[in-house]
Amino acid sequence: MKMLVVKFWAMLCVVTSWQTMGMETMASSLGKGQRVTSVTELPDGRGFIADLEVIEQTTLYGPDINELRITARIEGQYRVHIQILDRSKPRWEIPVFLVPRNEPLAKGLKHNLELPEQQLIKLTYTTNPFGFAVVRIANDEVLFNSTPSATFSLNDDASHSFNSMVFKDQYLEISTHLPSSATLFGLGERTQPHGLPLVKGKTYSLWATDLGSTTLDVDLYGVYPYYMDVRDGGLTHGVLLLNSNGMDVEYGGDFLTWRVIGGTFDFYFFAGPTPLNVVDQFTELVGRPAPMPYWSFGFHQCKWGYRNVTELKHVVKNFKKAHIPLDTIWNDIDYMQNYLDFTTDSERYPEDELKDFIEDLHDNGQHYVLILDPGISMAYNNYSTFQRGLAEDIFLKDDQNENYLGQVWPGPVYFPDFLNPKGKAWWGNEIAEFHRKVPFDGLWIDMNEVSNFCNGTRCKFNGVVYLDHNECYVECEKPTSQWSDPPYKMIRQGAYDNIGDKTIAMNVKHYNGTLEYNSHNLYGLSEAIATNEALKATRKKRPFVLSRSTFLGSGAHTAHWTGDNAATFKDLEYSITSILNSGIVGIPMVGADICGFAGNATEELCNRWIQLGAFYPFSRSHNIIGATPQEPYVWPQVAATARSALGMRYRLLPYYYSLMFEAHNRGTPIARPLFFSFPEDTNALSISKQFMLGSGLMVTPVTLPDVTMVNGYFPKGTWYSLFDYKSKVESKGERVDVAAPSDTINVHIHEGTVLPIQEEASTSAQVKKTPFTLVVAFPAANRSGYAIGKLFVDNGDDIDMVIRKGRSTFARFIAQQSAERGILTSKVTSGGYANQEGLTIKTVVILGANSAPTGIELSGEPVSSSVSSTFDASVPSLTISGLSLSVGDEFQLQWTTELHLSG
Ligand code: NOJ
Repeated sequence: MKMLVVKFWAMLCVVTSWQTMGMETMASSLGKGQRVTSVTELPDGRGFIADLEVIEQTTLYGPDINELRITARIEGQYRVHIQILDRSKPRWEIPVFLVPRNEPLAKGLKHNLELPEQQLIKLTYTTNPFGFAVVRIANDEVLFNSTPSATFSLNDDASHSFNSMVFKDQYLEISTHLPSSATLFGLGERTQPHGLPLVKGKTYSLWATDLGSTTLDVDLYGVYPYYMDVRDGGLTHGVLLLNSNGMDVEYGGDFLTWRVIGGTFDFYFFAGPTPLNVVDQFTELVGRPAPMPYWSFGFHQCKWGYRNVTELKHVVKNFKKAHIPLDTIWNDIDYMQNYLDFTTDSERYPEDELKDFIEDLHDNGQHYVLILDPGISMAYNNYSTFQRGLAEDIFLKDDQNENYLGQVWPGPVYFPDFLNPKGKAWWGNEIAEFHRKVPFDGLWIDMNEVSNFCNGTRCKFNGVVYLDHNECYVECEKPTSQWSDPPYKMIRQGAYDNIGDKTIAMNVKHYNGTLEYNSHNLYGLSEAIATNEALKATRKKRPFVLSRSTFLGSGAHTAHWTGDNAATFKDLEYSITSILNSGIVGIPMVGADICGFAGNATEELCNRWIQLGAFYPFSRSHNIIGATPQEPYVWPQVAATARSALGMRYRLLPYYYSLMFEAHNRGTPIARPLFFSFPEDTNALSISKQFMLGSGLMVTPVTLPDVTMVNGYFPKGTWYSLFDYKSKVESKGERVDVAAPSDTINVHIHEGTVLPIQEEASTSAQVKKTPFTLVVAFPAANRSGYAIGKLFVDNGDDIDMVIRKGRSTFARFIAQQSAERGILTSKVTSGGYANQEGLTIKTVVILGANSAPTGIELSGEPVSSSVSSTFDASVPSLTISGLSLSVGDEFQLQWTTELHLSG
């Protein structure tokens, strides 16, 4: 038996010793791992470079790579980076222009002021066999430990013995022990019928696939090789494997194994220690979520199958007639001539008519978004987009260096290469040209996994075009290469037989010879980057992009929806987990197709779904061609519900928009799992049918048919109903039944919140002109305490979303209440913008107020006679109206109570 030598960095002074339990590394057909042959410390003392050699060659999945190098770095106080690669030749790595590797903020940590200054995690390693462990310094908890059979002071239940690290050309394997107290989240994208926490015993495949989100527990459109691990007491860390190759991740309960079919091991460990810290640290590395335009927080209506401009006009008119808010109307592929990108159907969507329609929308403060698919038809010689693409030579190439032919809606297509700078430029040019004719406000990029209706390569077009035909009719050869048939087959839960099925063949080449095999999962990200840049350049305003396929870092460029769900209550329920998972990986602007994509929605389902969808970060109704219409005005009950639920959403627009600002700065999801706000509450960890909006609101939707009651989990404290402050829940951290008749969605404000809201209106542009109300929520029980809130305002369309003099205003609200008095204070940065726009707070509602006020003062002076107040003992609440507080100026509003007089 060999004694493991534990090495430590000089600077990492806390020593945790760990040893083998007396077991030899488990011999397996995958070998005994590697041993360290040399170690060099990095000059700054914050890491090392070590060379490794294989202990025993094996042949399963190919020969081992013998000459490995590990570079380990402590980056900032909360990040450890470990990369393991072949030192004898370069291997595929995700290009930095797709996913940046931003350095952590230097000391001072502007964004992490609450974190202590010292190092939070450290790394230890063993030399023979090689293994490493990442350890939380504060409590010596081992967060990741790749050494088979090792045991740790706090992890003594880590009994499972797994393979040593394996590194072959097309097969990489590494494992970690996990304690039983770990709860894991992430490893998407998939529809998780079991809810938010990952399920022990399951293997999660990660491969971008065009499969509807109705297919449960399989790899869907996006890929996020990243998980968040919450341990006892709520201490949370993140583990990221920055690798774009296909992989299986087996979550065995007391271990987790990554099996990857290429690239390198490029791990980042984020110390947290809270879930919010982890998303902050993660999005700092891969890119902060892109700011979304203010209008995109309004309601969106879409349908595949809007036949012509007249039908679009009717839809918009019907919303108005029914008094249901609408900001954006969408076009699916129906607007195109023969499904060709950058064309409009000459009869059904004549360019001039469409343009006039869009201009009318704009005059009315509304917007228009259209779809683009990546496949470019090669069947028409006079199709100028295609001709320009050919001239620029920007299409993907097969193994004979011919343009790779696939088939999508327009029939035979070539696929543009967004890794090619010329491809990006061509796309940008097409967008700009088209925008001159059709002044769209945002772009929806679909089918970008990439979806292909054929399997195979060297496909031949036989001259006949069948439109909208999703059976393959071009003739293709079965590809034979190490890429099309890799030695290790991902499990993929049986989604498709072969890795290249229903997508591009694996031996297809991108720019510079990059193989589809390596970059497959990045197609959607690369298209989102190109589209975002094109929109910025064309519209000179903040871009709005909605992408189906996403990767780590996509949130920096695009919004996302959960793809093709169906009109069932189960789909409604699962949408909650899916949107929360998107937020966890830095894509906070996310929604699901409200009322369901496939199938016909019933009135009851659509009614419940509009209640839930009204509170998604991205709120859009969409359904499939041929399904019965489901616009909210179709049924009287749904229309009434939409007026109330969307009415409330529109009142909340300043709150949503301020959450967008927070997301853009710190990665913080807009819709968050409950455990983000209550990490110490273990009950909150598995809540998958409710969600928080920011830290102040909780949404408890009905997810079942035929019910008028919903059982929700209410973490500790007072929760006031947002619609009717009286119906409040006082919770010790328990499940509570709340009434949910068909016209009711339960949304509650948590004590401790100052919520900025405005007035209802039919567009977000109109909301912007209405006065503000601040709702201050104190605990109802002891009627003392504090509350805080934030407000960010700008014109909603500037490319940047920053605090800038004259362009935006940021205000913080702090409220405190004692037996004698209450005070609400504002602290303002860059107030000029709000003043210039005349933004005014007219009303303050204090929930949990002590009594009717005996006096109200503003900055030390009694308020004028136009200010009035009412006290409602049944809440209890105090409403102060007739105020005129400028959002741009700091103020202090104070009210004294009867208790004060009698005292
Ligand atoms: C697939 C998308 O997921 C769906 O939303 C869209 O309606 C169809 N493609 C047609 O474009």
